[in-house]
Amino acid sequence: MSPFRVTRTLPEDATGAALRADVLHGLTRTPKTLPPKWFYDAHGSDLFDKITELPEYYPTRAEREILAVRSGRIAAATGARTLVELGSGSSEKTRYLLDALSGLHTYVPVDVSDSALTRAGQALVAERPGLEVHALIADFTTALTLPGTPGPRLVAFLGGTIGNLVPAERAAFLASVRSLLAPGDALLLGTDLVKDESVLVAAYDDAAGVTAEFNKNVLTVVNRELGADFDVDAFTHVALWDPGNEWIEMRLRARAAQTVKIPALDLTVDFAAGEELRTEVSTKFRENGIRRELAAASLELTHWWTDAEGRFALSLSMAR
Ligand code: AVJ
Repeated sequence: MSPFRVTRTLPEDATGAALRADVLHGLTRTPKTLPPKWFYDAHGSDLFDKITELPEYYPTRAEREILAVRSGRIAAATGARTLVELGSGSSEKTRYLLDALSGLHTYVPVDVSDSALTRAGQALVAERPGLEVHALIADFTTALTLPGTPGPRLVAFLGGTIGNLVPAERAAFLASVRSLLAPGDALLLGTDLVKDESVLVAAYDDAAGVTAEFNKNVLTVVNRELGADFDVDAFTHVALWDPGNEWIEMRLRARAAQTVKIPALDLTVDFAAGEELRTEVSTKFRENGIRRELAAASLELTHWWTDAEGRFALSLSMAR
C-alpha cells in the first residue's frame, strides 16, 4: 500500500455551490454576514500566515509553545496510533505531535484545500518512512467518514478555529467529532482564552493593517468567484470585543451608501452609509465553559494546558 493517499469526499463543485448559498443567505439578511471560511483563497491563506507572525497576534505562538512543552504528555496520555487533524493546512504545528507519538501508524490530515494537503502530505511521507498518510479533502463542519485505521485515535483541532463557530454550531460540531471516536479515543482542542480587551482587539486590528487586508479579501473572493463589483476600498475594517458573547467580531463597514451587483446570484445588494457586514466571530473561552461543552458531547476533559502567560489553552478530552 502506498504510504500517501488522498480521498476526496467533497464534490468538485461543492465549494462554488456553498459560496453561492452562503453569499445569497448572508447578504439578504439583516444584519448582513459572510462566513469566515471564504477568507482563505491563496492570497487570504498567505495573509493569514503573515498574521501568525504579527507581534499583536499571539495565539499561534502561544499554541506552539504548549505543543512544544506538552507533546510528550499528549502522546503518553493517548497512545494514539491514528492522528486525525481537522483543518490541517500546512501541518506546521503538527510536527511536535508526530515526533512525540512513537506508536503512530497513520496520519489523517483533513482540509478543504487540495493543494495544502498534497504538499504537506508528500513532504511528510518523505521525511517519515513507515508513516501512512491518508489525506481527506473534506469539509469537517459536515459529517466525516474516516478511513478504517488502527486505534486509539486522536483527533486534533488546533489554532482556536472552533471559536469561529457560535454555540449551537459548536455543539453540533463536537457531537459530530464524538461520533468519529470510540471510548478511549481522544480530542485535542486549541482554544484562545478570555483576556484583556485591549490585547484581544489589537490581535484583530494590527498596526500594520494585515488583518484589515485579510478581512477585505473576502470581498475580493466574492468579486472573482461570483462576478460581483464590491469596491473593496469603500469598506473599512472593524474589530470589536462583544463582552456578552465573549467573542471578537470582525466587520466591514461601508464608508458611504452603495449598491453592489452579484451577477452569479442575479442579486443587487444595497448598503447604507455606515452599515456593517459581519465577517467573523472569534470566540474566547474559559476552562469551565470548555469543560461543559465537551461534557455535553460525551467528552471528558482530562488535561488543560496553557502557555506560560495563560493566553491560550490546549485541552485533551476522552470519549466516554
Ligand atoms: C484561524 C480562525 C483561529 O480567529 O484568530 C485571524 C482567524 N481572523 N485574524 C482567529 C483570524 C483574524 C483565526 N483562526
